[in-house]
Amino acid sequence: MKLFFLVFLIGFVNGAIYNHRDHSSRNKVLNKRYSPDWNDLDTRPLPEWYDKAKIGIFLHWGVYSVPGFGSEWFWSNWKGGNRQCIDFMTKNYPPGFTYQEFAPAFKAEFFDPDKWADLFVKAGAKYVVLTSKHHEGFTLFPSKRSFSWNSVEVGPKRDIVGDLAKAVRNTSLKFGVYHSLYEWFNPIYEEDKRKAFKTQTYVDTKLWPDIKQIVHDYKPSVIWSDGDWEANDTYWRSTELLAWLYNDSPVKDEVVVNDRWGIGIPGKHGDFYNHQDRFNPGVLLHHKWENAFTVDSGSWGYRRNMQIREILTIEELLQQIVTTVSCGGNALINVGPTKEGTIAPIFEERLLALGDWLQINGEAIYSSSPWEYQNDTLNGKVWYTCSINRSNSMKRTYRSGQVAAIYAILLEWPSDNRLSVRSITNSLRSRYNQLEMLGNEGTYLNWKITNGDVEIELPDRATVKSNHAWVLKLATT
Ligand SMILES: *[C@@H]1O[C@H](CO)[C@@H](O)[C@H](O)[C@H]1NC(C)=O
Ligand SMILES: *[C@@H]1O[C@H](CO)[C@@H](O)[C@H](O)[C@H]1NC(C)=O
Ligand SMILES: *[C@@H]1O[C@H](CO)[C@@H](O)[C@H](O)[C@H]1NC(C)=O
Ligand SMILES: *[C@@H]1O[C@H](CO)[C@@H](O)[C@H](O)[C@H]1NC(C)=O
Repeated sequence: MKLFFLVFLIGFVNGAIYNHRDHSSRNKVLNKRYSPDWNDLDTRPLPEWYDKAKIGIFLHWGVYSVPGFGSEWFWSNWKGGNRQCIDFMTKNYPPGFTYQEFAPAFKAEFFDPDKWADLFVKAGAKYVVLTSKHHEGFTLFPSKRSFSWNSVEVGPKRDIVGDLAKAVRNTSLKFGVYHSLYEWFNPIYEEDKRKAFKTQTYVDTKLWPDIKQIVHDYKPSVIWSDGDWEANDTYWRSTELLAWLYNDSPVKDEVVVNDRWGIGIPGKHGDFYNHQDRFNPGVLLHHKWENAFTVDSGSWGYRRNMQIREILTIEELLQQIVTTVSCGGNALINVGPTKEGTIAPIFEERLLALGDWLQINGEAIYSSSPWEYQNDTLNGKVWYTCSINRSNSMKRTYRSGQVAAIYAILLEWPSDNRLSVRSITNSLRSRYNQLEMLGNEGTYLNWKITNGDVEIELPDRATVKSNHAWVLKLATT
């Protein structure tokens, strides 16, 4: 990781900033066929919708929402000897109770996919990623290879993936799936593992056919791979899978995949990189990346024992989003639905507050690009994005001449109403000298430069529309 950042920083100093592969080069290669090796797969241009989207909703939903205790890793933790999980089972369930016996209580009786989709639209998200199958192996779609361990046969008695895909697509949002490569207790996988992954029976008879079923039936725009870490990409046949996805699948033009495709692959290959969970480097990266993080800081799946202090505040949520987008990332915000099929009101409240913020300030987020600076050199609580004038630029690469507007996002309101910053001094001195706050357009703010620092007189806070994280827009007159 350290080497990676160093290489990147050298690139930054040389002025080679965030080189998006652009649309025109994309057209040239649309008919290209990819061969199943990373060097070739890595030449695929990033489908444009994904970089513009910026905000996605991540849903971890499965049988683990029934015990709703600890985290979505409940089964593995319990069987692995975790004291709290063992005590929880001893206290609340009869001896010999199996994890499989939780499944009938996963009823999802209040699951209303249109209502969920409506919430995600109101939150300002542009894509949704649902766990089609987590490490427990339970599929939220009728996998032909997950006998009695799928949502159509047991529990909800419906095709959750299909129903949510339909509702999400009925809005303007894109639909994607999370999919775990490995399954903790699948005997076919365990057999391959015992043979040191020299056999690939699980990959050939379960994994690939399931992924192909998902792609054909639901046409996901995102495949968010996980559970890759026990074996290498050769075992998973990851490059063959991606070559098929990019060449011959029904989603070949639109689909984006992450980087969890085997030992040593994360952060190296994939349309976008997740690196590890909750990755947020605080510096610009040269390859598209995504910060997948949770509103409940302690779990991805719903847990009934979460505490209010563990839930991200709206300020913390916005800090994650703003710092991520400034550094070229997308934010994938996770909430775990309940076994009844509801999204807990505390999550709903956070998502709606985010939507209110984006209503006012979305201009600085959606379709934005990283700017010359990510956070201010004088005031680290101020983060920047910009909009690139596409009509005179072939590449979505920052160059000062192509910047239509610069956005300075304040994570904290200065106590004396005066904001001191340094990184925009030259911009204010040159073309970008018209300064206003989003939500309060038409009121131009006064600023003065002293010894290279800018002091901006903010409007009276009582008159300001946004309640958190205020955006100053610098444009040309
Ligand atoms: C699609 O969305 C509209 C509202 O925009 C709603 O009235 C309708 O019920 C939805 N249809 C489906 C199939 O989800
Ligand atoms: C991947 O794993 C298999 C099975 O353990 C092994 O035979 C092979 O050498 C590994 N390949 C690489 C490139 O490490
Ligand atoms: C922000 O800027 C400050 C000052 O330039 C720097 O020290 C810091 O590492 C930057 N990043 C974050 C995440 O604050
Ligand atoms: C964008 O570029 C075009 C072509 O050079 C120019 O005419 C237009 O004024 C620019 N718009 C902005 C907002 O800078």
